Amino acid sequence: MTLSVGVIGLGVMGAEHLRLLREESTGVRVAAICDADTERARLLAQDSVVLDDPMALISSDNVDAIVIASPDATHADLALACVSAGKPALCEKPLATSAAEALRVVDAEVAIGRRLLQGGYMRRFDPAYVEMKQVADSGRIGATVILHNVHRNAAAPEWFTGPMSVTNSFVHEIDISRWLLGSELVSAIVHAAPGGDPLLITMETDRGEIVSTEVFMNAHYGYHVHAQLVGRAGTVQMAQPSLTLTNGNRHHGHGYPENWVPRFRDAYRLQMNDWVRSVVSGQPVGASAWDGYVATAVAEQVVTALQTATKTKLFLGARPELYA
Ligand SMILES: NC(=O)c1ccc[n+]([C@@H]2O[C@H](COP(=O)([O-])OP(=O)(O)OC[C@H]3O[C@@H](n4cnc5c(N)ncnc54)[C@H](O)[C@@H]3O)[C@@H](O)[C@H]2O)c1
Repeated sequence: MTLSVGVIGLGVMGAEHLRLLREESTGVRVAAICDADTERARLLAQDSVVLDDPMALISSDNVDAIVIASPDATHADLALACVSAGKPALCEKPLATSAAEALRVVDAEVAIGRRLLQGGYMRRFDPAYVEMKQVADSGRIGATVILHNVHRNAAAPEWFTGPMSVTNSFVHEIDISRWLLGSELVSAIVHAAPGGDPLLITMETDRGEIVSTEVFMNAHYGYHVHAQLVGRAGTVQMAQPSLTLTNGNRHHGHGYPENWVPRFRDAYRLQMNDWVRSVVSGQPVGASAWDGYVATAVAEQVVTALQTATKTKLFLGARPELYA
């Protein structure tokens, strides 16, 4: 069986998902594409049908499953439309721009009793994070006590306003920290440097672990994501961000990518391959709608913690049975 996929949003991320579906996935074809910029969609069309309306793409009889890669504010409504059409979707992070909206999506899945949505938290598929989790789960470093995260971007785009470093970027650390540790986050305190960048966010888990994250949107030297997990009997951390060393200009060392696409190229590919397999098999993988809700809900409360500069107790509510 060939899975017919529709892609909504064809910017930096959507174009990469489109490329992965066309060039690096098997058993799948891109039946339809859609972008608010129809000219852009036409340029990327190849043998896919170009549709102007994302809702028409979701309801099309020629589309079995959907990739949502349009801007954050569009995700919740498009995800809800996929659930009501009974179609699986890989929805870029964040699931929604507010916890209330994200919960509406969760409630819709719970109402039909089926998990159809996978969140685009691709770090769960990154070989370095996967190896860190394997080491931690093996018990080799003992009980985990601290997770240090570093999330640095070369430069934030100008439309990237204050809280977006939390609601759009830091959501990755919320998700990967929960996944790596297997714990739930219970409190947060945020320190901001003058001008609001970088942020240092310290959270505690329900097992007493400490999760520290530096989110630096304008670190200039490159895109750099790093994590170190500290246990009572050892530590595990990511090795170098590149596979080669260069010499030049009296300098020897590793290079940094400009952005996330090269750094997480393998993660995006593995995520896409697993998503296609999971749609065909009906066995969900990756971040669920509930995980998407948690990331958005924690981010929302971290934004409040940033404004109050006090330790904030995080509230999530009860996890529905569907996501046990
Ligand atoms: N998982 C990751 O690592 C990762 C990395 C980057 C971006 N993202 C997410 O991917 C999404 C897209 O980010 P991007 O960097 O590609 O942005 P982008 O601005 O490059 O692309 C967005 C595209 O969506 C189109 N668009 C806008 N409104 C639309 C609508 N209603 N219907 C259809 N198309 C619409 C725009 O014309 C544009 O082509 C964002 O939600 C972002 O948070 C995820």
